[in-house]
Order: sequence, then C-alpha cells, then structure tokens
Amino acid sequence: METINLIPKKLKISDKFEKDADVVLYIGDTLELLDQIPDETASLVVTSPPYNIGKPYEKRLDLNIYVKQQEKVIKEAVRITKENGSICWQVGNYVENGRIIPLDILLYPIFDKLGLKLRNRIVWHFGHGLHARKRFSGRYEVILWFTKSRLPS
Ligand SMILES: C[S@@+](CC[C@H](N)C(=O)[O-])C[C@H]1O[C@@H](n2cnc3c(N)ncnc32)[C@H](O)[C@@H]1O
Repeated sequence: METINLIPKKLKISDKFEKDADVVLYIGDTLELLDQIPDETASLVVTSPPYNIGKPYEKRLDLNIYVKQQEKVIKEAVRITKENGSICWQVGNYVENGRIIPLDILLYPIFDKLGLKLRNRIVWHFGHGLHARKRFSGRYEVILWFTKSRLPS
C-alpha cells in the first residue's frame, strides 16, 4: 500500500535556478531566468506574459516589437521544455482604438514554426471587466496548450 506523508518537508527555496531546489522564486527579467535553465528541464511551462496593453508593469510597445520580444521568450520556453513536455501560453486581446487583436492568433505562428503541436485552444470566460459600448465586452481569454511531441489524440 502506498503511504502519503502529510507532514510537509522543509522546502529548498532558491532565488536562482538550481536543479535540486523545490522552488525557484526569481524576481527579475524572465529571459535572465530562462538563460540559467538547461535544455529540456521542464515537464510543463505555464505563463501569463504581458499583453502589451499598458498595464503598470509594462511599457506599451509597437506590436511588431512586442511579438519579436515574445518570440525570444517562446524560443527559450521551447528550449527548456522536455521532449514529452507541454507549454501553456495564456493571453488575452490587444486592443487599439476599439480594434481587437487576439494575441494567441498573433503568437501561434511562432510556436508552429518551432514545431510545437497545438493540443487545445482553451477559451475561458469571466463576468467582470470594463463594459464596451460599441461592441460586445471582452469577457474571455485563451490558453494555448502545446506539446513538443505528437501524442495520441
Ligand atoms: C498579464 S500579467 C500576469 C498576471 C498573472 N498571471 C496574475 O494572474 O497575476 C503579466 C506579468 O508578467 C510580468 N512581467 C512583465 N514583463 C516581464 C519580464 N520581462 N520578466 C518577468 N516578468 C515580467 C508582469 O510583472 C506581470 O506580473
């Protein structure tokens, strides 16, 4: 019979990447952290990157520059993912003068070019948020779930 230890062990928490750490809590630029991580380390990468909509933590960039910047992060995320691993990329819409650009559609070709397989395009919805006056209000975001290898359907 399998036993489950309910007493938590003392976790090893590190502020830089260490293979034997239980938790790595890195406060800094994502590319600097990714640079520390060896190839094919992660079984699952989950991220909710900036949406380039001018939130306090980001500078609104020209959309092409934003995509180039994201491409660097995506390439690194793919590099650190194991051959049988998954990547979940959570994004919303970029909105400019009432024009909506779904970021997952913009970023999908980058993953496709890198050979990733889209397993599901998960659309989830929420009830809160700003009310649009001249279109339906934005009430959903998207998670793109990719795998590196082809899995049975
Ligand atoms: C869309 S928000 C994600 C919010 C988060 N999922 C949550 O529910 O609170 C994007 C986050 O990415 C962080 N961020 C932006 N640029 C970054 C970078 N270059 N390196 C690391 N984190 C970054 C921001 O500080 C922000 O917390």
